[in-house]
Order: sequence, then structure tokens, then C-alpha cells
Amino acid sequence: MAIDEIARIVSHEEAGPGYRFLVVEAPKLAAELVPGQFVHVKVPGLEASALRRPFSVFDACDGQVTVMYKIVGRGTEALAQAKPGDAVSVLGPLGRGFPVACSGVPLLVGGGYGVAPLHFLAKRQVAAGLKPILFVGGRTKGDLLALDRFAALGVDVRTATNDGSAGAKGFVVDPLDDVLIELRQKGEAFELYTCGPDGLLKAVAQRATGTGMPGWISMDRHMICGVGACFACIQKVKLPNGEAFNARCCVNGPVFKAEDIVW
Ligand code: FES
Repeated sequence: MAIDEIARIVSHEEAGPGYRFLVVEAPKLAAELVPGQFVHVKVPGLEASALRRPFSVFDACDGQVTVMYKIVGRGTEALAQAKPGDAVSVLGPLGRGFPVACSGVPLLVGGGYGVAPLHFLAKRQVAAGLKPILFVGGRTKGDLLALDRFAALGVDVRTATNDGSAGAKGFVVDPLDDVLIELRQKGEAFELYTCGPDGLLKAVAQRATGTGMPGWISMDRHMICGVGACFACIQKVKLPNGEAFNARCCVNGPVFKAEDIVW
């Protein structure tokens, strides 16, 4: 059952050029959220038809919920004006998240601000005694976000940029493939978790199905209502009987099993 909590903004800081961390006091939500779920924030100053925006949860602990977002349009431009002390309505937890438990090494693969839910996941996995490895990629150095936050968790971070300005030059799946070869040579199990642009999600899903290991894919689809009513966020998936089904990412996802997604 989703909770609609009136939350005071604790801090609202830059998370990189054009990105923000929004931290709100929302104890009921913070206690319920699991990694990969999202919240719907009512943006102050927008008319009723455009009030809410969906955001991945970057962290939820000690009664506070953190989201990381990119300023990309009217809604997020309006939200960027909100100040500490302002109140916003936050609806959640919404959607289905990632499983935290992992048999083997958790391999987290993020592109751009797709690292947001992976941070929450990594934090819970570290707390559970797991040792996740994060692979993060972007076009250039400025696209690699929140690396210090992952480092503070003790996560092993491997980076790649297309222009070589940080980490390996090329695509983030290159360092991932090196680790996959290493783990398979050692006979070690792993699970893949990813969030980012579609091309990356598909590449990671192929590696999960190709190796026969579990893969958890967070689909980034345009959302309007966030609660299953508008059908804006459709993703074709396979049912256990093999038939295709139009899933709504906001209620049936956003996280799906790699083998279930019809690309
Ligand atoms: Fe409306 Fe998913 S956003 S059904």
C-alpha cells in the first residue's frame, strides 16, 4: 500500500552538472522502501495535470529518503527551485525493486543517473555482508555520478568512458566482460543488476541469459501516473507460458528478470 507522506526537504544539493540530490524527511517511506522501487514527488508550483514526477530512490535510511535526478524539463526545473525547509508530498513505495539477496558476486552495472537505484542496492548488499562490484559508464567523466558515495560504502568501482577521460576507454561492458571471464574461470557464481539506457540494459540482459546467471533489469520508461492507471509505461514481457504480455513498468516493474523482457 503506497504512503503519501508530506515530507520536509532536509537538503537539496548538486550531484554533478545538471543533477541534484534531494533529501527529504519521510520516516514511514524510508522504513518501507526497497532498492529499485521509486517514489512520486509532487512538484511545488506546477499545475494539477503535471504535478508528480517519478524518481528512483538513491538511499533510504534514518527516516530520510534521497533521490538523485537530472534537470531535464519543466517538472524537474520547478523542483530544482525547492529549498530546504519546504514541504513536498512524496508517494511510495512504488513498483517492484531488486532482490537484495544474491547467490554469488553481485555485479551492478549503471549508465548515467541509472546509478541511483544501484547505490541503494549496493548499500543494502554491503550491509548483508555481500561484496558488490559496480561498473559505471558514460560518454565522458562528467557522466560518472556519485562515485564518492559508492566508494564510501566500500564498493569496488570500475569505470569506463567513451572518450577515455576517466577509467577505461570504451564501453562499460568491456570491464564487465573481463570480470565475467575471470569469475567463470574460477567457477564463481554471480548475478547481474542494471539500470541505465536501453542499449546498456539489453547488453547486460544478453550477458545474463548467455551465461545462464540471474539478471535483474530496471527498465526506464516514461511514466505519468506511476500507479498503473495510464498505460504510459508499457514494456513487453514473456509470461511463464511463453505468451507476450504488456507489462506496466510502474506496477509490474520497473525491475524485471532478464529472460522475461521482449526487446
Ligand atoms: Fe501510468 Fe505506468 S505510469 S500506468
